[in-house]
Amino acid sequence: MSIKLPQTSLMLASTFTYGVATAAFQIEGANNTDGRLESIWDRFCKQPGKVKNSDDGSLACDHYNLWQEDIQLIQSLSVDAYRLSISWPRVIKQNGTINPLGVRFYKQLLSALKEAKIQTFVTLYHWDLPQHLEDRGGWLNRENSFKFREYADLISTELADYVDSWATFNEPFCAAILGYEQGIHAPGLAEPKYGRQAAHHILLAHGLALPVLRKNAPNAQVGIVLNMNKSYAASEKAEDLFAELMRETLDNQFFIEPLIKAQYPQILKTAAPEYLPAMVLEGDMEIISQPIDFLGLNYYTCNHNAFHPTDLFSNVKNSQEVEYTDIDWEVAPHAFEELLINLHKQYDLPPIYITENGAACADTLVNDEVDDEQRVRYLHDHINAVNNAIDAGVDIRGYFAWSLMDNFEWAEGYSKRFGLVYVDYTTQKRTIKRSGKAYRDFLLNRKHLSEQKT
Ligand code: FCB
Repeated sequence: MSIKLPQTSLMLASTFTYGVATAAFQIEGANNTDGRLESIWDRFCKQPGKVKNSDDGSLACDHYNLWQEDIQLIQSLSVDAYRLSISWPRVIKQNGTINPLGVRFYKQLLSALKEAKIQTFVTLYHWDLPQHLEDRGGWLNRENSFKFREYADLISTELADYVDSWATFNEPFCAAILGYEQGIHAPGLAEPKYGRQAAHHILLAHGLALPVLRKNAPNAQVGIVLNMNKSYAASEKAEDLFAELMRETLDNQFFIEPLIKAQYPQILKTAAPEYLPAMVLEGDMEIISQPIDFLGLNYYTCNHNAFHPTDLFSNVKNSQEVEYTDIDWEVAPHAFEELLINLHKQYDLPPIYITENGAACADTLVNDEVDDEQRVRYLHDHINAVNNAIDAGVDIRGYFAWSLMDNFEWAEGYSKRFGLVYVDYTTQKRTIKRSGKAYRDFLLNRKHLSEQKT
């Protein structure tokens, strides 16, 4: 099994960007080094029972020390681009000024990537809020949005020369809803009302940072990354169809509509007003809906929904026999295609980058090899789903596999492996999996094809 596209595919052009992605907290380690402050994830990992096996991010993939080796690894995969995130608590001191030691790390990393001719896609917030800001209310405090703008201003001034593409946030849904409403991610608050208010402040922070990023980095693209999974109804019953609509509205439309249409989904006003943020000030929606150069989309799976009298919907398993990954997520490339085409029909979208897509597999290292056949198929099928969406008219410019290497998978700790590269957490040895080799061969073949054409 290899990764292949039809010969005529636009995704074989050299202008289409392929990459691999990671996030700071998941790989860096070195949490007390060079003046890095505590983040909400450091604190969350210490709370008993929150993270599987009480794992934490103190060492992770030791990328803070092994970054040079990791750049070679990225290069060896033959990708065009690398998506990473900046750790806010590493680069900004408690008094709000730059921490030069933390910034030095990213300058070295990014300039080495540029030297290696790898495009740099940087996300400013991949969930690691400084704990001292959480102590002042975190994303429930409107002031935090302005703190984010200050951070974005300072760091983009420092790194402007090295960054091709800036994303303000990764997955506001997860940061706000999993973190403040469901309590399964940091900071671990579980109040129904908190989630949507935190989400509003995150979206506001995004909007506040946009002009700052544009001013400091006029040649870079600026956007945001949303996670979206396709929702289905458990049956054709009207109440299950309603459940599907609510799931889709609360998970997806709630985040994209403010950005594109300057409003929260109107249906919530009548169907579920308790899911609208309580405090939206005049002018907020205009700030949030300023144009973006790209929309990043992270896709992994689909979900099936049955009506629930108090929660609107409850998650049920697909009634058909389907394949799952090691994290119990249904493998559904057709849903990916459908999702992309639906979004294209519903909204006037900016160009899209698939900023994450990948599979967790129960990988084992045998004789220095990892035979992750399921991940190879997953990548093949999902890259082809993107290709079908492009054929149907969706403007998609890039695809990033999640993840470069196995890493700290949030509440699952190190128990779930998403990497194209296997990490032995005892020795920190990296081994390219069969999927990494398949991705590399696919990209080499594409280069070969485009050279033949020119
Ligand atoms: C996404 C996150 C990413 C990773 C993948 C599996 O929601 O953005 O950090 O954990 O899921």
